Amino acid sequence: MRTPIIAANWKMHKTVAEARDFCRAFLASYAPDGGEVVICPPFTALGAVAELLAGSVVKLGAQDLFWEEKGAYTGEISPGMLQDVGCDYVIIGHSERRGYFGETDADVNRKVKAALAHGLKPIICLGESLVQREAGQTEKVVTEQVRLAYEGVAPSSAEQTVIAYEPIWAIGTGRNASPEEANRVIGLIRQTVAGIYGDGVAEKIRIQYGGSVNKENIAQFMDQPEIDGALVGGASLDPAGFAVIARGGRS
Ligand code: 13P
Repeated sequence: MRTPIIAANWKMHKTVAEARDFCRAFLASYAPDGGEVVICPPFTALGAVAELLAGSVVKLGAQDLFWEEKGAYTGEISPGMLQDVGCDYVIIGHSERRGYFGETDADVNRKVKAALAHGLKPIICLGESLVQREAGQTEKVVTEQVRLAYEGVAPSSAEQTVIAYEPIWAIGTGRNASPEEANRVIGLIRQTVAGIYGDGVAEKIRIQYGGSVNKENIAQFMDQPEIDGALVGGASLDPAGFAVIARGGRS
């Protein structure tokens, strides 16, 4: 059995004070149920959130990293720095990074390897655009993204990774993929992983759905056999709402 994993991607939201307020309120209303919960604040709030989550079961994640360990890379953050501040997870290859900042599949692959080399678990984001979906290219796009993200990654490391299937047209639009369709594509992603690493690894890797998940629809996604959790944007900013989502919709 795979342990469910629900992650909050705050994107570019919350000051340090707002992040602290969220953590206090969230921890007061979230009743752990054995699933894994990860909060991914902006870099500036990682330290404060780490302090408040210490002693709880809730894990800390970052939203990106750079693959080099140190050096003259103005503005970048290394895997070692994320580990130092207390991160267990790191989101890699979010469609906003691919779209606005030109990240390629090759960049994603380097970041995945750098994260794993430093004991960070990557949450690898992938998914098709609306144009690609309407052109019938969903399967081709996601299988290629999976193949390139894992190039040169050893099976024992691959098991540590999480995949987030986030169809771009469903992100921040209020137009979520149907749970059945998300389950279908995630099943296909798992088959692709099985083609690379075999069924053993594919059965261990957790695959989330992301895109307009909220406290009303999360349970329908969690009911699907292939869906192991969610990566939640907008609805993760409210502590009481995210406390419900973190329990898969059971308040
Ligand atoms: P929304 O939940 O706001 O649609 O964002 C999804 C997302 O991009 C999570 O990484």
